[in-house]
Parts: sequence; structure tokens; C-alpha cells
Amino acid sequence: MKSIVTSQYSIHFNSTCYTELNAYLQHSNFSKIFVIVDTNTHNFCYAYFIAKVETNLKIEIVEIEAGEIHKNIDTCVGVWNALSELNADRKSLIINLGGGVVTDLGGFVASTYKRGLKYLNIPTSLLAMVDASVGGKTGVDLDTLKNQIGVINTPEMVLVDTHFLSTLPQNEMRSGLAEMFKHGLIFSELYWNKFKDLSLLDIENLDELIYESIVIKQNIVDIDPYEDNLRKTLNFGHTLGHAIESYYLSNPDKPNLLHGEAVAIGMVLACYLSFKLCDFSEEVNQEIKDAIAKIFGIITINKADYNPIIELLKYDKKNEHGNINFVLLEAIGKPKINCLVENSLIINAFKFYNA
Ligand code: GLY
Repeated sequence: MKSIVTSQYSIHFNSTCYTELNAYLQHSNFSKIFVIVDTNTHNFCYAYFIAKVETNLKIEIVEIEAGEIHKNIDTCVGVWNALSELNADRKSLIINLGGGVVTDLGGFVASTYKRGLKYLNIPTSLLAMVDASVGGKTGVDLDTLKNQIGVINTPEMVLVDTHFLSTLPQNEMRSGLAEMFKHGLIFSELYWNKFKDLSLLDIENLDELIYESIVIKQNIVDIDPYEDNLRKTLNFGHTLGHAIESYYLSNPDKPNLLHGEAVAIGMVLACYLSFKLCDFSEEVNQEIKDAIAKIFGIITINKADYNPIIELLKYDKKNEHGNINFVLLEAIGKPKINCLVENSLIINAFKFYNA
């Protein structure tokens, strides 16, 4: 697969990853390498990865706990302390080997330690491959509020080796699929249509679909790296999706929702709002709900939860001047940013989702 070369960094795929990584290590002047892993990627991915690396540099492992609940500043303090104790200097390289939590948190730690170290992302989950590892968004949650603290700072390189997906549980695969659906819905009907028959999804097709998803995202990020306008479209389904994710994270009696699972709900809600406010086709709205329900099921949102979820929208990062800005669709591939939505319509969207 052809590498994707952007103005700031390159994304390499499968076998090319390690030739590019080894050449990069050989030609750079790093003092030491720190690989940030979580408990899962330490167990399932590290040995495979390290066997491919050719370098004389000393390599240290820094492990964090797995799971969104650990994507916080306390974990960062632990990693900053570990780097300090292991004498990381400004010529040290950070390699983030993991899913979205590791790439977001590791990128933030690297961007802030001693005012910034270079870092690479090696995503091991589908979600991190098609979204989190690409585009330079780094950061952590503030309590259960998603990604409230962070910086945009691009990695030196992203290495996408789909071999890692063989170690991934089913629900994590689904979580990544949600972001791929999103890329189709905001950018390309042709791409969205490829997901209509998931029985065609074998590993070979999946590699192609992952590649196309990354191209869609990277094209958007290239035009608007700091999310002034176009990049906001990548938040389709995330306004309510993040609020639902935060709400479920902070309520122990609720099921554990992965990011993509919450975004899948958020996309169904956003399509309904698009139908009501942007002339989005009613038939396509229903088709999208059915397609998403087929893969993700329906997680009933109780009536008592509507208002607390709506209340969390005030923390959304796209809010400006007190307005909650939704990304909606006029058609598949035709997103509209900065849409204002009445709370009563959001409640109707919940009812449509539950029905
Ligand atoms: N995950 C959305 C973005 O990177 O902009």
C-alpha cells in the first residue's frame, strides 16, 4: 500500500512500516527510545513490534493501565515521572504503541515533556488506525469530560500495521467501524455504500477500507489542521456521542460504552436532526439508522437520561459564544457545520433512536 505523505509527516502501511521506521531511526540522532504501551498492547503487541525494530538505541517500556477511564492527567503524571526517572532528554523519541487512549495520551505527554519530544504513533486498534493516530490531536479527559485538555501537535510518522487487528476483540472492531462510517457519511456516498454489505468485509477488503478512511481524514486535516471550519465535520455524531459517552462513563449502573459505540448512537441522532433541519432525506435517515442498528444494536436511552445528557453538551469543544454547534448533513457527503438545535428536537431524536 502506498504511503500517504502529508506536509508534516508520513503514514506507512504494513510491511513498509518497519523499513521506514528502521531507516528513520538510523538517520535521526535520538538518545533513547521510550515505548508507551498499555497492559493489553504490552501483552499482545510489544513482542511482535520489537522483533521488527533494528536499532542500537536503548529502548525503555512505559506501561499505563488500559481503558478510557485512565485517560487522565494522573496517568500523564505517572508517565512524565517515569520519563524523568529513566533520564529521558529532549533527544528522546516516544513511540505510542496502542489504541486511541495510548496515542492521545502518549502524544500529549510527548508534546509537553520538557516542552516537547518527537513522537510516532503505531495504532493497534481499528479506531486508532482510522482516526485517533492521524491528524495530531492529543490529549486527555477531564474527569469524565472527553478530551478537554490537549494540544494539536503532529507525530513524526504513523505506522499502520493491520496485523495488530488480529488481537482485537469484536466490540473494539465495531468501535473503529463507527469512525469509518462517519468518514463515508461526511465525505463520500461511494465509501458509505461499501459498508452496506458487511458480509463482503474480509481482511483484504478491510485493509483497503482502512486506507481509504485514512485518506479521507488526512485530506480534511491537510486543509484545516486546527479545526477552524472543515475539520469540524470530523465531529459528526460526536456532539451527542461524546455527551452520551461521558454520561455512561460517570454512571456505574450504565453499561460500558466504547467511544465508537457512543458515536454510532450520536450519528443516528445527528441524521435525524439533519432530516428535521437540513432537508436530509427521510428514507436515507431510516436506512442509516437500520444499518447502524444492525451492527451496534440499539442501547435504549432512558427518558430520565435525556436532560442530563443534553446538559453535558455545554462542555462540547466546538461550542463558541455559548452556542452548541452541531455538524449535520444536507446529504451523504454534504456536511453542514455550526448548526443550532433546540433541546426539544434533541429529545425527539432520542425518541426516534429508541423506537
Ligand atoms: N477525531 C476528529 C479529528 O481528529 O478531528
